[in-house]
Amino acid sequence: MTKGTATELEHLSDGELQALLAPDLLPHHIAIIMDGNGRWAAQRGLPRMAGHTEGIKSVRDMIDLCRDLGIKALTIYAFSQENWKRPAAEINALMLLLERYLQMELEALIEKETRFRAIGRVTTLPESALAWVRKVERETAHFDRLNLTVALSYGGRSEIVDAVRRLAEDVHAGTVTPDRIDEDLLEGYLSTHGLPDPDLLIRTSGETRISNFLLWQLAYTEMYFTPTLWPDFRRHDALLALHDYQRRERRFGQTRDQLSDHPDERVGKRSA
Ligand code: FPP
Repeated sequence: MTKGTATELEHLSDGELQALLAPDLLPHHIAIIMDGNGRWAAQRGLPRMAGHTEGIKSVRDMIDLCRDLGIKALTIYAFSQENWKRPAAEINALMLLLERYLQMELEALIEKETRFRAIGRVTTLPESALAWVRKVERETAHFDRLNLTVALSYGGRSEIVDAVRRLAEDVHAGTVTPDRIDEDLLEGYLSTHGLPDPDLLIRTSGETRISNFLLWQLAYTEMYFTPTLWPDFRRHDALLALHDYQRRERRFGQTRDQLSDHPDERVGKRSA
């Protein structure tokens, strides 16, 4: 378990912070709302896209850190359904950046044995961006060291609606009977099927909202909100977030006594 105050930890090197983490209490799945790119750029008198471009470096840092620590799943919110309301020029530039990122990163993802998957209504993406998404998904489909999921044109409510629609079709077709519908069955229709629920959600830039991200999956997730803007959120900041996470007691509705009887129950369990 993490020792030292948050301020003491801030002064440690990345290597020291990493060495002080308890390996058995690391999250299995981290979800991130990457926010503050526009403000990062504005603070420097740069166009908003400069913030998004710099944000790619933070994405790389998170991938490397998860891989180094043996964290198996990382899910990042790159473009929400609501983001389609942004000015067309920013949307177009973001789509080009996504495409460029996938082109540039494919080799590195393969080298890092990282499986890339997109969730969301991805068929609404421009054709060339979607073609790259599918290509990188195909070429990394056999890896399991790290599961990188990128939410694109994603909304949590839409995801649940899509899942319920497909479930209703199966009920209509007679392959599922209503009495079999429970949380596990519905979970199987979600786009994150096969991934554990996130243990830790990080949102940067001082906002303290979920913003329609992984509404079902975040039911028992620990939340970490930081004022740091996404392009500034690097390995050191993520290590501090992990220390903060390791200070917490995850009870999943149980009592403290129950947890101390069965310490293995502390991490990664989903129950009421
Ligand atoms: C929120 O910042 C960020 C986004 C809407 C886009 C996030 C995209 C990236 C980090 C780069 C692309 C990532 C990949 C994987 C290709 P904001 O623009 O809302 O910032 P603001 O609130 O300061 O205006």
